[in-house]
Amino acid sequence: MPHPPLRSFGRVKSRTIKPRQAALMETLLPALRAPAEPFDPHALKPDAAEVWLEIGFGGGEHMAEQASRRPDALIIGAEPFQNGVASALRHIDERGLQNVRLHDGDARDLLGRLPDASLARVFVLFPDPWPKARHHKRRLVQADTAAELTRVLRPGGRLRFASDWADYVDWSLERLIATPGLAWTAERASDWRTPPADHVTTRYEEKRLGDCAPVFLEFVKTA
Ligand SMILES: C[S@@+](CC[C@H](N)C(=O)[O-])C[C@H]1O[C@@H](n2cnc3c(N)ncnc32)[C@H](O)[C@@H]1O
Repeated sequence: MPHPPLRSFGRVKSRTIKPRQAALMETLLPALRAPAEPFDPHALKPDAAEVWLEIGFGGGEHMAEQASRRPDALIIGAEPFQNGVASALRHIDERGLQNVRLHDGDARDLLGRLPDASLARVFVLFPDPWPKARHHKRRLVQADTAAELTRVLRPGGRLRFASDWADYVDWSLERLIATPGLAWTAERASDWRTPPADHVTTRYEEKRLGDCAPVFLEFVKTA
């Protein structure tokens, strides 16, 4: 049996979840949870034109806003942090979103359940930076994760990575560029320095905790 990957996330729970959000964890989450076995994500909402994945959605603000802007797309969000899942459920409930499904756990488990070429877009926005060298192996972006992300993207599908940690940007660029089937779309510096037109500022991004301005790396699945 292969070893499970090292943990790429920090806490899975912090403060007590507010009663209303706790109630949504009991009532709404079971209805939105992605299957625990291999599945075709298009079957979750057959009228959706495409399926997107957001890995590490934090409090779910970006995911909810994208879902509300694009009701024709089904967005699956993966996040092991329970307070984040509870917050996302509140956004989904308040906005009456019908096009979000959740995996309240490690995205890498979910990836393994998805068929080849099943996703049109993947977002990895401001993943935990793990800045200390001895923790780099915990970073979400590794050669094997990059290969999995590429496998699940359909040809022409896009991956967006963002970080405000310079070393993690370099690390990710090196690994993603080296991944067969993935091509970096940037042509000039403004392509990675300027937030993409459809970007929604995330809660973590607003905190400016990193050591550089946010960098956005956009990749396309080539074949
Ligand atoms: C620094 S936070 C950023 C959250 C959000 N994207 C934002 O920008 O506000 C990184 C998030 O990624 C989540 N995360 C880390 N590893 C993950 C994994 N393997 N699968 C899913 N989520 C993960 C963490 O729990 C955390 O909530």
